[in-house]
Amino acid sequence: MPKIELKNVYKIFGEDPQSVLPLVQNGATKEEILEETDHTVGLDNVSISVEEGETFVCMGLSGSGKSTLIRHINRLIDPTEGEVLVDGVNVLEFNESELLELRRHKMSMVFQSFGLFPHKTVIQNVAYGLEVQDKPLEERTRISEEQIKAVGLNGFEHQYPSELSGGMQQRVGLARALATNPGILLMDEAFSALDPLIRNDMQEQLVELQSKLHKTIVFITHDLDESLKLGDHIGILNGGRLVQVGKPEEIIMNPADDYVAAFVKDVNRAKVMRAKTIMLSAEQNPLNGKKSAETLKVNENSFVEEFLPIVLEQHSLVEVIDKQGNTMGFITEKEIAKSLSKS
Ligand SMILES: Nc1ncnc2c1ncn2[C@@H]1O[C@H](COP(=O)(O)OP(=O)(O)OP(=O)(O)O)[C@@H](O)[C@H]1O
Ligand SMILES: [Mg+2]
Repeated sequence: MPKIELKNVYKIFGEDPQSVLPLVQNGATKEEILEETDHTVGLDNVSISVEEGETFVCMGLSGSGKSTLIRHINRLIDPTEGEVLVDGVNVLEFNESELLELRRHKMSMVFQSFGLFPHKTVIQNVAYGLEVQDKPLEERTRISEEQIKAVGLNGFEHQYPSELSGGMQQRVGLARALATNPGILLMDEAFSALDPLIRNDMQEQLVELQSKLHKTIVFITHDLDESLKLGDHIGILNGGRLVQVGKPEEIIMNPADDYVAAFVKDVNRAKVMRAKTIMLSAEQNPLNGKKSAETLKVNENSFVEEFLPIVLEQHSLVEVIDKQGNTMGFITEKEIAKSLSKS
């Protein structure tokens, strides 16, 4: 069962969304709706399915509906039509107390602007969600100290947010979100306010934390590199419509339309394409039974960039193996060239 699902969600902003809904359902675009009805289409028939433990990245230009989408998950926004399911349950049917439970225990949000309390110290900020849950002080302190350590901020417990750099403040935001041990993290442009080097650090830290924690993460960004680094799947929004969903390499290889193609055109493919995506199957072994001394064994999940230099230098054949060391397939220079070419 998916952890999070949106089913045919429409969100129309304006005086009378219901009256405009049929027009949207009949295919009118966001521009047409605005022109003709003075309503704004936030989401237009969006369906997504996010598996437990994966990072789903939602990407798109400004105004494409990313924040609108993520806010449906914790019901900061209710849809004009459609269903929102968490753990298979339609959260639109929740009463007040079920909704509080959902927001306090099942999910946390990390914001672009950090959203820290300026008059609370680091540890008080991190402990906030636990305080709301009425956890005793001793437990709050113990958990918060662990989380502060996990994001590399030990020693800063009693500083105030204004005494920290942007990157450090966002680490506090992340520690606060993790403190209540939610299954779901909602991150809306969480790293977009940081300068590039710090942003890179944060991305790496999130990848590392996620490899241990296996949270279900919905991450919003308009940065392609960030989405490729973080996303198990990427969904691309344009004018409220979800124009493509796929694994990073699928999106790079087969952009669904010109809008997606424009996003991916400058990407360094060697950083994104994995051995298993481009290999010939084991039966297509180009050696045809002959043994080669020049075989380079690489894990199926290796990126092309990791073995490209060796192949170029030594003209070796790449043998792709799984975790157990079994042969899965082969890669020659031809497959590499194909994977890196843009047509
Ligand atoms: N409360 C609202 N009232 C009216 N229109 C809204 C409201 N919230 C969002 N919109 C409109 O819905 C569309 C999607 O907005 P949204 O904030 O989801 O975009 P976004 O992809 O998050 O953009 P950004 O990258 O700038 O954050 C926009 O056209 C916006 O003007
Ligand atoms: Mg937004």
